[in-house]
Amino acid sequence: MKMRMLAVFIFFFGFITNNFSQTNSTNQKWWKEAVVYQIYPRSFKDSDGDGIGDLKGIISKLDYIKSLGVDVVWLNPIYSSPNDDNGYDISDYQNIMKEFGTMKDFDVLLKGLHDRGIKFVMDVVVNHSSDEHEWFKQSRSSRTNPYRNYYHWWPAEKGEPPYRFSQFDVNHNAWKYDSLTNAYYLHFFSTKQPDLNWENPKVRKEVFDMMNFWAKKGVDGFRLDAFQFACKDTTWPIFPKEDYPKDFIKYHAMVDPIHNYLKEMYDNVLSKYDVMSVAEGAGRNFQDAHDLVDADRNELNLAYAFDPIDARWSKDYSMLKMKKIFSKWDSVFVNKGWLSIFLANHDNARLVSRFGNDEPQYREVSSKMLTTFLLSMRGTPFYYNGDELGMTNIRLSKIEDYKDIAALNGYKYVQSIKGDTSKFMTFLKESGRDNGRTPYQWNTSINAGFGTGKSWLPVNPNYKTINAELENKDANSCLNYFRKAIQLRKQNKVLVYGKYNLIDADNEKVYAYTRELNGKKLLVVLNFTKENTSFKTVYDLSKAKILLSNYSITSKNKTLKPYEAVVFEIK
Ligand code: GLC
Repeated sequence: MKMRMLAVFIFFFGFITNNFSQTNSTNQKWWKEAVVYQIYPRSFKDSDGDGIGDLKGIISKLDYIKSLGVDVVWLNPIYSSPNDDNGYDISDYQNIMKEFGTMKDFDVLLKGLHDRGIKFVMDVVVNHSSDEHEWFKQSRSSRTNPYRNYYHWWPAEKGEPPYRFSQFDVNHNAWKYDSLTNAYYLHFFSTKQPDLNWENPKVRKEVFDMMNFWAKKGVDGFRLDAFQFACKDTTWPIFPKEDYPKDFIKYHAMVDPIHNYLKEMYDNVLSKYDVMSVAEGAGRNFQDAHDLVDADRNELNLAYAFDPIDARWSKDYSMLKMKKIFSKWDSVFVNKGWLSIFLANHDNARLVSRFGNDEPQYREVSSKMLTTFLLSMRGTPFYYNGDELGMTNIRLSKIEDYKDIAALNGYKYVQSIKGDTSKFMTFLKESGRDNGRTPYQWNTSINAGFGTGKSWLPVNPNYKTINAELENKDANSCLNYFRKAIQLRKQNKVLVYGKYNLIDADNEKVYAYTRELNGKKLLVVLNFTKENTSFKTVYDLSKAKILLSNYSITSKNKTLKPYEAVVFEIK
């Protein structure tokens, strides 16, 4: 009897929390309803002809950004930096990178965004600093320097430090020997990005003070770069030395007391302002992800997970796998926590080249299909600049043309192990980070209107046909479709908060799901292939209303044309 009562209680409790979670206004947050637009400042707009995008350039495009309908702008790091990793190596957290402008420009930019009702998210890179940061200069100067403990050092008299994998190192070795003090320092990324020691309370205080500095200036959120790596196992257990170790996150990341540090960050910074906080990476597993963003834990607001992006390059990639991953992620956050939805950013290939089809006859339609997906899922969409134009991979063919440290050092590594460099070049052409970093294509004028000087990365030659000016005038362009899709999300809270339900789960070509809130039900169907296909649904579509479609003629007979995307309202 008792068991039965418990079951009934659980059933009702589940029912109440489920429905409560869909409608409860305390669960409604501006950052859940927002569409975040990521701008790569180096490549957006160059105002002074030095070939590098800058803050004044972004300021000159504020009305354009507003016209997109986005709610939040996230800028990749704009702090002082020697640019070993394009700003992800910071030498002064409270100053602006020379190439990008001045603090005055920053203030004008922030005000310009706020005047237009757009919020601003700052990239916070605190797993590591630059080796040119004053803290590191002090730290390496002597073993007794007060800053020594700001970083991880291994005295050479103890022998070689236990191997750790570095993502950007030419030899993949995360320890670099420094003869000045006869010791090794740790760098999970490049040798110029030494890892900060989060176990040192002084480091944490410096970071919180810095975040408060920006929050007081009025920024509306923080993206915590590579934060899961901030806490590592400093008992340094033996780590398998492999080329690309599968499990490196286990040793490199999410180690206790990361959650205590995040709670400290919450108490000292995040709780004091109406800011959003998002972690890059969602940990080792679903539990980690959930713990990072469960509102009751007072840590972060949202995280973004890499599985879907990573899955694209796995040997067993399929639509079925993709659907499973997204559906699983959604289920973890049904009642608590929140996720971001993204398929591209500055660390990846172009959205349409990777997940759609950038051959001329399919580029526009597949790009619009992907936009439909990103803007109709549960979770905050993070949309990368240029994808709204359907910009494509540039596929640079010579290693000398690449600028990204990951590409350059990756190539050297392959050479050093006498590996297949031409295979590596093929890989770079499809997935190298520089693909997503070519200058924004504004118009048909010189350098695609990015700036008058030679741009730091070449402009994609297809700018004559793919650019904002042309697309702005064309009602059927990718750009105008993006605007429409944003408006649809804004007008239909069901697309933000509604329950997600996968349908026709075994369909290998079509991703179909419903979104449901307070009696309103939308059906989203997306053909991820270049073939005509069909899908199964129990709903009678003859009465359904078509809210959005990427073809001028859409049928209601449960068939789809290549890369067709439709959002139906079920009546
Ligand atoms: C993050 C950034 C990436 C950078 C790395 C090291 O993954 O997104 O661009 O290279 O951290 O800071």
